[in-house]
Amino acid sequence: MPTSIVILAAGQGTRMRSRLPKVLQPLAGRPLLAHVLDSAAGLNADATYVVYGHGGAQVTQAFPDSNIEWVLQESQLGTGHAVMQAIDRIPDSHLVLVLYGDVPLIRPSTLLRLADSAGTDALALLTAKMRDPTGYGRIVRRADGGIEKIVEHKDASELERSIREINTGLLACPAQRLRGWLAALNNDNTQGEYYLTDIIGMAARQGVAVEGLLVEDVDEVHGINDRRQLAEAESILRRRTADRLFREGVTLADPDRIDVRGLLQCGQDVSIDVNVVFEGEVFLGDGVRVGPGCVIRDSHIAEGSVIDALCHIESAQVGRNCRIGPYARLRPDARLDEGVHVGNFVEIKKSDIGRNSKVNHLTYIGDASIGTGVNIGAGTITCNYDGANKHRTIIEDGAFIGSNTSLVAPIRIGRNATIGAGSAISKDAPADSLTVSRGRQASIEGWQRPKKHNKKD
Ligand code: UD1
Ligand code: CA
Repeated sequence: MPTSIVILAAGQGTRMRSRLPKVLQPLAGRPLLAHVLDSAAGLNADATYVVYGHGGAQVTQAFPDSNIEWVLQESQLGTGHAVMQAIDRIPDSHLVLVLYGDVPLIRPSTLLRLADSAGTDALALLTAKMRDPTGYGRIVRRADGGIEKIVEHKDASELERSIREINTGLLACPAQRLRGWLAALNNDNTQGEYYLTDIIGMAARQGVAVEGLLVEDVDEVHGINDRRQLAEAESILRRRTADRLFREGVTLADPDRIDVRGLLQCGQDVSIDVNVVFEGEVFLGDGVRVGPGCVIRDSHIAEGSVIDALCHIESAQVGRNCRIGPYARLRPDARLDEGVHVGNFVEIKKSDIGRNSKVNHLTYIGDASIGTGVNIGAGTITCNYDGANKHRTIIEDGAFIGSNTSLVAPIRIGRNATIGAGSAISKDAPADSLTVSRGRQASIEGWQRPKKHNKKD
């Protein structure tokens, strides 16, 4: 059956107390709505409508490349009113699935089951059993067990409030039926809103089958109204990611202390210590070890490499069997070949470092090409910026750069060249030679230290 998805995302989210519209609040580094869209994508629907309102263009602009059909709900008169805004665009022959922008953890498999339960002529409703159902609409069942209606918490009697089966809000039904029910909605209730939930009573009265699908994992329907619920969603997602990584053969020092804000792909026998944050797309090859407190964004770390504690790595490529850190910073376009060592307080940007080269201490390498087997001494700086333009430094295979050297780019250090410590090098250094550029050392014999003046003078 052709399917249209309607995602309700127009609400203000007052309880977030934020300038950012609720559906744009980040969960695992991406807007809430992006998560819902991802799950919806699993249905291969013919169209996906997002009803937006609060936040206006800020919401639509956050999804520039998607094929969302945006539907503006100018004033938020209730969930029923929200669906009314989209229904005219949906053909009678479609199955309509209603999702919520603030229920982001729903699994595609559950949505498929919901669509299946609706079939061609039923109304399917996703329900859940809550230990504390406060605030939710309650599922009222008849003596025979069939669903009679939904009562919103605010409209419910004492007896109805004791019902623990709640409405998750997610439902599926044929568009033709939905159109009729929506036209018959009124706002005669405590909140003065057009409740989508009133269609359930209508369906039941008309003898249309109302299927309640009880969700097994209540985490899937965790709704987000405030920042505490947002943090709870974050930890649910963290657990899900950790479980996936465990299944793939990754060791995590603590599944509650890893944050994956994007996509993390790992080979076998990867181990990740506590408090590591992954952002964007990160790949860790077989046997990679990541120490505590690292932040790794959009990077590729090849097999066997070790990233020690507290490194910051962004848009970098690390070859096989490298040793990075502790306290190293790899900035965009740092590309390390196999067996490279980068030590503490070293910053590398837009540079290639050849096989088995070492940059172990207190160094800045920017806009450089470094060959194989090069040793960069402590405190080396590539002076790549003249205040107006950036220039490249080229260091050929086997070169040895003494400590505390400034390499004023553009410059080339030849093959197997040695640079004496403390040099400021501003002209190319030839291959196979020692180049030194610093004041000559001199000693003055018989030199006397100055004496303290007499205070009375
Ligand atoms: C709704 C359900 C309730 C259910 C609960 C589950 C109704 C009347 N009630 O209540 O039975 O237990 O969700 O979380 O449907 N929205 C719009 N436009 C509007 C109003 C809401 O787009 O005019 C969107 C909101 O942005 C949100 C969703 O619809 O994504 C739910 O709205 P909300 O006000 O949070 O409904 P609840 O009172 O939680
Ligand atoms: Ca809600």
